[in-house]
Amino acid sequence: MNVYDSARMAEVLAPLGFVATDVVDDADMILLNTCHIREKAAEKLFSDLGRLRVLKTRKADSGDNLILGVAGCVAQAEGAEIMRRAPFVDLVLGPQTYHRLPEMVARLARGEGPVLDTEFPTEPKFDFLPETEAPQGVSAFLSVQEGCDKFCTFCVVPYTRGAEFSRPAASIIAEAKRLVAGGTRELTLLGQNVNAYHGDGTDGMNWNLARLLRALAAVPGIERLRYTTSHPRDMDDDLIEAHGDLPELMPFLHLPVQSGSDSILEAMNRGHTADDYRRIIDRLRSVRPDIAFSSDFIVGFPGETDADFAATLDLIRDVGLAQAYTFKYSPRSGTPAATMAKHVADDVASDRLQTLQALMTESQDSFNRSCVGKVLPVLFERSGRYAGQLVGRSPYAQGVHATASARCQGTVMPVRITGVSSNSLSGEVETMEVGA
Ligand code: 5AD
Ligand code: SF4
Repeated sequence: MNVYDSARMAEVLAPLGFVATDVVDDADMILLNTCHIREKAAEKLFSDLGRLRVLKTRKADSGDNLILGVAGCVAQAEGAEIMRRAPFVDLVLGPQTYHRLPEMVARLARGEGPVLDTEFPTEPKFDFLPETEAPQGVSAFLSVQEGCDKFCTFCVVPYTRGAEFSRPAASIIAEAKRLVAGGTRELTLLGQNVNAYHGDGTDGMNWNLARLLRALAAVPGIERLRYTTSHPRDMDDDLIEAHGDLPELMPFLHLPVQSGSDSILEAMNRGHTADDYRRIIDRLRSVRPDIAFSSDFIVGFPGETDADFAATLDLIRDVGLAQAYTFKYSPRSGTPAATMAKHVADDVASDRLQTLQALMTESQDSFNRSCVGKVLPVLFERSGRYAGQLVGRSPYAQGVHATASARCQGTVMPVRITGVSSNSLSGEVETMEVGA
């Protein structure tokens, strides 16, 4: 979502004459868009700011102004602290106020001093953002829902991103059409809790995610749809059914479970058991047999015993995941888990993380190897490192390298998978006349 938000910030600033640059030294403004989900992500901000302070001073010495801003969830959670620890920062803005960036820049220009804006304004930012114009690539993100009301006991999102909010379907569909006009063929719908989507439909009814996906699948030019991140509790019947009958919906679902132990799931306030999760996976596989799954796991949550951890490993073995993101529990101040007893020792958590990662590497490798010999539809996104090579994605979001004509960029081609490396596949385009 930060990638999406950053692109929208660039768009808000474009009318003021700002253009993106890859050269840090050339920048007139640097906005760090931050993540607060784990401590490490938040710490990174202060070390980056230390480095940028040097650049700002150097620029000031040669008479140039560098606007330094911090956006995103660290800004939301620690705005005042940032102003205190890094008083050279000019702008601090949360994820719900970046549509006001032009106004903030104007205030700076008037010499009104540093701006801190971490409100949750009543005007939804999407109503104030300019319409997406710049091409976002063959595969693009589209934010449909923000915030979360689930309050998992370890998580800062309900505090930093705020309450659940769903964008109206009409503005999502309009954005999708503009993206398609700019060459996008694959859309990944974004939301912290995307399958809790419940926005105003174009027919005056309230739409769920399944209904929204159906409407987007009907937009000419959209070939692939994905959505992330989902909660098991919101995998409703309609959504499961959509996986069975929407060919545009890719057979790959990121569905975080966090733990395989029911007592840990309860302490996490997840609202489901490990068997509930197994049943959801089974139902999805019954409507879409080729579907694959990825998940998130936290090890070392307060109170996690060896038996709890073993239950997590069992769950992974039962479900057969294609991919997983694994994290050591990171206490976040203000969340209920941060003050829970039965802290797990760091070395124990580290050992568990290693064991989990070893199992996941095995599981992921075995999934990737199972693709060899198959013909997978690949959406080519860009040219590869070698002449005549294109890089695209399989339905399972694996990177695929293949020899193919530049004309295939932006199209879906059948590719016979011939090889596998640690994070990507290689193959040959099957159809002669199109691949030639
Ligand atoms: N500690 C460790 N991991 C966390 N996540 C969220 N909060 C924490 C935390 N406090 C992980 C969860 C979530 C993913 C985005 O980040 O697994 O699904
Ligand atoms: Fe955080 Fe996801 Fe739980 Fe919401 S559902 S509180 S975003 S982990």
